[in-house]
Amino acid sequence: MAARVHIEKLKLTGFRNYANLSLTLDERHVVLTGDNGAGKTNLMEAVSLLTPGRGMRRAPYGDLIRSGPRPDPGAGTEPATGFSIFASLEGMAGATDIGTGVDGGEEGGSRRVRINGAPARTTDELLDHLRLLWLTPAMDGLFTGSAGDRRRFLDRLVLSVDPAHGGRALNYERAMRSRNRLLSEGRADPAWLDGLEAQMAELGVAMAMARNEVVSLLSDLIESHAGHSVFPAATVRLEGFLEDEALASASDMEAAFAQMLESGRRRDAAAGRTLSGPHRSDLIVHHRAKAMPAALSSTGEQKALLIGIVLGHAQLVRAMTGHAPILLLDEIAAHLDEGRRAALFDLIEALDCQAFMTGTDVSMFASLGSRGQIFLVADGQVTPHVDAAAG
Ligand SMILES: Nc1ncnc2c1ncn2[C@@H]1O[C@H](COP(=O)(O)OP(=O)(O)O)[C@@H](O)[C@H]1O
Ligand SMILES: [Mg+2]
Repeated sequence: MAARVHIEKLKLTGFRNYANLSLTLDERHVVLTGDNGAGKTNLMEAVSLLTPGRGMRRAPYGDLIRSGPRPDPGAGTEPATGFSIFASLEGMAGATDIGTGVDGGEEGGSRRVRINGAPARTTDELLDHLRLLWLTPAMDGLFTGSAGDRRRFLDRLVLSVDPAHGGRALNYERAMRSRNRLLSEGRADPAWLDGLEAQMAELGVAMAMARNEVVSLLSDLIESHAGHSVFPAATVRLEGFLEDEALASASDMEAAFAQMLESGRRRDAAAGRTLSGPHRSDLIVHHRAKAMPAALSSTGEQKALLIGIVLGHAQLVRAMTGHAPILLLDEIAAHLDEGRRAALFDLIEALDCQAFMTGTDVSMFASLGSRGQIFLVADGQVTPHVDAAAG
């Protein structure tokens, strides 16, 4: 079996409440404990920027730049204008150094990524080295919230097994924006629109097929565990785009979607947006044993369903790439009783991943035992937790 993908060193400069942090880790799970506001989630957010996108809070980069009091007020230093994150990891392609950050004034811009010292062409190259999945308290409302949030969640799952998915989605959005603009300006040059719609059809169908593939694999995997896990099995399916054509060939689906776009021009022009396409599909989740929509399940059941989906997907990533993803499980322990917590720790250990977990109280991680390395986070400082009882 391949070595466990894990972060060995993490250095943050000017990131959120961290002026300077240098953390050395081994391959075990990383537990971050500390009071509210200490910087536990900030540290995980930094790790989440080792994958394409804006990280697990989707914050503008300007928000990530450290503000507030300087470490040495007497030094008269300038306020920070950027942040940097550096990680050494045992990655999917062996030992790798990743650096990322922004220099400031780049709120809407992109962040720089260097891999083993060389600039990456796109952030997608990060996916050659590690895959990441996260579960945060902000995702608690996923099933009751907007379809857009569920699509984004799904697209993250797809991206972690299919690195080309992000680029396809981006190019699809770009073509769609151009089409919307042309329609809104009333410059309905048919040849131009045909071209954009052909692009949308090709990219959109590729996106939909990639999503379908992942949903179907994930669904089979969850099904194979149903009934044996403390986390309830979910049924997952996609809705809202070319469902009836889902079994047709790609070219038939492209033709159907292109046709749909062409005949919808007038309607879309009036609406000011494109009303049908994969950008409107939704991930429909049910509690399998109860045959109940996830949105109608209890808060605790929803959390447990989500944990089941993420762990199932992590297994899928491992089966497809040979390496388990790094998991970021923010405030995970708070929602689970002792038995479920122990089961979760056993599951992540069996996955052979490095999981980062946070909690206010170290006692929540007792059943993790020596499978974890425990740190205390306070005021942007991270120190190994010393177990008083063991001393
Ligand atoms: N850009 C920033 N500069 C300095 N501090 C920040 C910045 N962004 C957030 N913070 C601080 O980080 C703290 C929150 O840290 P967080 O990691 O969410 O805490 P927790 O340990 O509860 O997860 C807050 O006190 C907030 O004021
Ligand atoms: Mg937090």
